[in-house]
Amino acid sequence: MLKELTKIAKDTNSFLKTFVKSQKKTELIIPMSYGLFSGGKKIRSKILKDIGHIFNVDYKTLIIIGSAVECIHAYSLIHDDLPCMDNDDMRRGKLSTHKKFGESTAVLAGNSLLTLAYEILSNKKLKIKDQTKLKLIKKISECSGHQGIAGGQFLDLNFEHKKVSKKRIIEMEIKKTGKLFSFCCMAPLIIKDRNAKEILMFEKIGSEIGLLFQVADDLIDHKGLSSSAGKKTKKDHKKGKATLISLLGYENTIKYGEEIKTKILKKINKYGLKTNEIRKTLNFILNRNK
Ligand code: IPE
Ligand code: IPE
Ligand code: MG
Ligand code: MG
Ligand code: MG
Repeated sequence: MLKELTKIAKDTNSFLKTFVKSQKKTELIIPMSYGLFSGGKKIRSKILKDIGHIFNVDYKTLIIIGSAVECIHAYSLIHDDLPCMDNDDMRRGKLSTHKKFGESTAVLAGNSLLTLAYEILSNKKLKIKDQTKLKLIKKISECSGHQGIAGGQFLDLNFEHKKVSKKRIIEMEIKKTGKLFSFCCMAPLIIKDRNAKEILMFEKIGSEIGLLFQVADDLIDHKGLSSSAGKKTKKDHKKGKATLISLLGYENTIKYGEEIKTKILKKINKYGLKTNEIRKTLNFILNRNK
C-alpha cells in the first residue's frame, strides 16, 4: 500500500469522526459508521490530493472534500452489496452492512451517508467561497445521480447475462465508478477558478482514471484472492456481469488498462514534476491486489 494513502486515510477518518460526533446521536450512526470506517483505501481522496497538489490547494480543504466523497463512496458500496444488487456478504474483510444490520437498515444508512456528504460540503468548516461550494455541490450531485453512480449501477445490473458492446461497457464503468473520480480531478481546479476548458480536461482525465480503477477491480475479481481483496472474488463471471474481461479476455483487458494509463500520462505530462504523486497512484491502481 502507498505510504501516503495511510496518512490520507487517517486524516480523513479523523475529520469524519469529529464531524459525526458533532451531530445529534441517532441509532443509524452505528450502521453508518460501520460502512464508513470499516477500512477502505481512500483512493479517491488520494487522487483529489494528488491533483490538488498540482494546483496548490490547501491540504485541509482537500481532506474535507475527500471526506464527502468517501461518504458517497461508502453509501454506494453498502447499496451495491444488497441482495437486490450484487448480493455480496463480505466487504472490506467483514460482513457487508446488510448482513450485519439487516436490509432496511443498510438502505437507510446508505441514504444517510449520501446526504452526509452534502452536510459536509455545505458546512462552515470547509473554508472556501460559498460560490465555489455551490459549484462543487452541483458537480458532485451530477456525478452521483442518474448521470453518474446510480445511472452506472442501473446499467451494470441491466447488462447482466446480456451481450453488450465495448462502448456500452465503458460507458457503464465510467458512470458507476469514473464519475466520482472525475469529481476528484475537477474539484481542485474549480477551487482555483481555472478556466472551463482546463476543468473539462481534468473531468475527462478523472473518468479515465476511474475507468482504469474499475478495470483493475474487474481484474482482481477475475484473478485475485478473496483473502487479500477483502471481498469475494470470481463473482462477476458467475453473475454474468458484462465486463471488458468477459468481452475481450483477461490478457487483452490488461493491455487495455496499460493503454488507458499511457493516455492519462500523456495528458498530465505538461504539468511537470508536480505530477509525480499522481503517477505513483496510477501505478498503484494497476498493480494493487485489493
Ligand atoms: C470498490 O471501490 C468499488 C469500486 C468502485 C470498484 P474501492 O476499491 O475503492 O473500495 P474501498 O473503499 O477501498 O473498500
Ligand atoms: C461497484 O462495482 C461500483 C460502485 C459504484 C459501487 P463492483 O460491484 O465491481 O464493486 P465491488 O467489486 O463489489 O467492490
Ligand atoms: Mg456492482
Ligand atoms: Mg459489487
Ligand atoms: Mg468488482
